[in-house]
Amino acid sequence: MDHSKKAFARHTVTAALPYANGPIHIGHLAGVYIPADIYVRYLRMKGEDVVFICGSDEHGVPITIKARQENVHPQVVVDKYHHQIRDSFARFGISFDVYSRTSAKIHHETASAFFKTLYDKGVFIEKDTAQHYDEESGQFLADRYITGLCPHCSYEKAYGDQCENCGTSLSPDELINPRSVLSGNKPVMKNTRHWYLPLDRYEPMLRQWILESHRHDWKPNVYGQCKSWIEQGLQPRAVTRDLDWGVKLPLEGTEGKVLYVWFDAPIGYVSATREWALSAGEDWEKYWKSDDTKLVHFIGKDNIVFHCIIFPAMLKAEGSYILPENVPANEFLNLEGDKISTSRNWAVWLHEYLDEFAGKQDVLRYVLCSAAPETKDNDFTWKDFQARNNNELLAVLGNFVNRTLVLTHKYFDGAVPGAGHYGPEDEKALEGMQAFPDSIGHSLDHYRFREALSGLMNLARLGNRYLTEAEPWKVYKTDPQRVETTLNICLQICARLAVLSAPFLTFTSDKLLKMLNMSPMGWEDAAKPVLLVAGHQTGRPELLFERIEDSQIEAQVDKLLKTRETNRESAPQPAPLKENIAFDDFARMDIRLGTIVSADKVAKTRKLLRLTVDTGVDRRTVVSGIAGHYNPDELKGRQVVILANLEPRTIRGIESHGMLLMAEDSDGRLAFLSPDKPLDNGSLIG
Ligand code: 2FM
Ligand code: ZN
Repeated sequence: MDHSKKAFARHTVTAALPYANGPIHIGHLAGVYIPADIYVRYLRMKGEDVVFICGSDEHGVPITIKARQENVHPQVVVDKYHHQIRDSFARFGISFDVYSRTSAKIHHETASAFFKTLYDKGVFIEKDTAQHYDEESGQFLADRYITGLCPHCSYEKAYGDQCENCGTSLSPDELINPRSVLSGNKPVMKNTRHWYLPLDRYEPMLRQWILESHRHDWKPNVYGQCKSWIEQGLQPRAVTRDLDWGVKLPLEGTEGKVLYVWFDAPIGYVSATREWALSAGEDWEKYWKSDDTKLVHFIGKDNIVFHCIIFPAMLKAEGSYILPENVPANEFLNLEGDKISTSRNWAVWLHEYLDEFAGKQDVLRYVLCSAAPETKDNDFTWKDFQARNNNELLAVLGNFVNRTLVLTHKYFDGAVPGAGHYGPEDEKALEGMQAFPDSIGHSLDHYRFREALSGLMNLARLGNRYLTEAEPWKVYKTDPQRVETTLNICLQICARLAVLSAPFLTFTSDKLLKMLNMSPMGWEDAAKPVLLVAGHQTGRPELLFERIEDSQIEAQVDKLLKTRETNRESAPQPAPLKENIAFDDFARMDIRLGTIVSADKVAKTRKLLRLTVDTGVDRRTVVSGIAGHYNPDELKGRQVVILANLEPRTIRGIESHGMLLMAEDSDGRLAFLSPDKPLDNGSLIG
């Protein structure tokens, strides 16, 4: 079925609820909030009934850990960031209908009632199991309260819910040598009761709904992740935790237990809709329970499993909710070649940008949409930011609008001239411009925001080319009537740009509408041939964009360099020297040179590579957790150092013979050890 053609009476669009433990940065904007806002503004312009939902995600271990570090109550942490996040979104023009929060009473009530419904229906499996407990701090160690060695890639600082090195989802019992984050102590095991959502029971439904029904309309990155989850086999998942911060369990005798943050957070979308409906006098249930409602979740790639597998299973278990029609998740945005990181302050923060580039919201909206990580991770650089402003927004869009309006004022006192006889070049421009609402709309309907924005810029390019070729500044002396037609057409293009730019460049669109003395229009209106009638008086031309100077960019780059310097200074000290060993211990290790002859990704893992290494004495398989650092293609032919007599280990069903020796710095960056000149494979190292 072509899902983009299905007719819906209304739309519920959600944007991932950001954790209220830090400010919003460009990665969040490019991945989630800009595409969501563009999509919603487009729907509104088409006259659709749409509610745009967001709010702060205020539970979960990252928040309680931050509160503990700052020695304050978690409510203090979430209050601070909730307000900061809400205000910076508003200043940036993200047009939520409601920005709620999960510490709100309405959310606690909604989430707790949702859990109770599932409980009463007998959906959960109730189980007593032994779980890790920190005796010193008197607390069970869920999720990020526990770290240890990752069983998949041997990363030493994997968390109890996920290894950030290889991306694998974990449970605390899988960690090797687990430690409490609170005290550093080795946990003891203690019995506790929890409630599990039997995901395995929903596997047939998920298989049918995602793998069959949405095979063609979901993005390949989203579809692929879902497929790999489903095919690995779904297991029951605990949806409760022993914590004192979160939504309390609505069951007798369960003090000290709350809902797992990933159980309550997506219900936050429902609570926020209820909050909106109460103040707007609407019926929230229509937006969540009617088959003719289109539900779309905008999220980052790390949220895919929660929105495509777990939340849909919860909704299905409840029974009265619809499922999302699409989940157009994006990949990640990096900053100047490095992963964006809140803890390392490696980010461009929205609130700082808004202060330092006052009035330039649209430049960031433009750059982040143009470079959105739609199909793969992408990089933001300040140089690119400057180039896109100066060479695209200013030189293409701003220049066309400015030339048109200045000439209209020069020759016709700002009144729209009448169009006379159309020549072939005029016909071509007229026909060309009328196709844009449809083609840009088509890209937006398919969540291709970069393509849509580039379509908008192509309309400005069409205008520029037409104006340059018509040369009204030359022709006016000999044929002023011809100039009337030329400028009439240019003004129709400007008007179309004013309308069609609104979802993307919302502040610029307002400015341009004002300059053209026009009222906002619907999306489809922009396909009409005449948007400005002859005689219509336009306003004074103003510049839409300003040049961004080298000095402004240098200031931003310097700021990042300082961050890098500070990070280096405060970087953890190199690991202390290990105890001395006897020479014999060293001599027992067979370390030699080898060459990688082939490298392939291990299916259904994100970080593992299966390598074939020629050790001089044999060709063997080595599994290595480096896919996040190297492409398989760049490894073939590389000479490496291998510890060849390490006992074989089975990793994801593949027997690995030996280990490649690599260096790792405190930022987790990896480097191979290689000889300074090629030597024979098998050369011993010692
Ligand atoms: O990854 C995150 O930032 C989560 N706070 C997203 C939650 S989305 C939803 F489920 F609430
Ligand atoms: Zn790992």
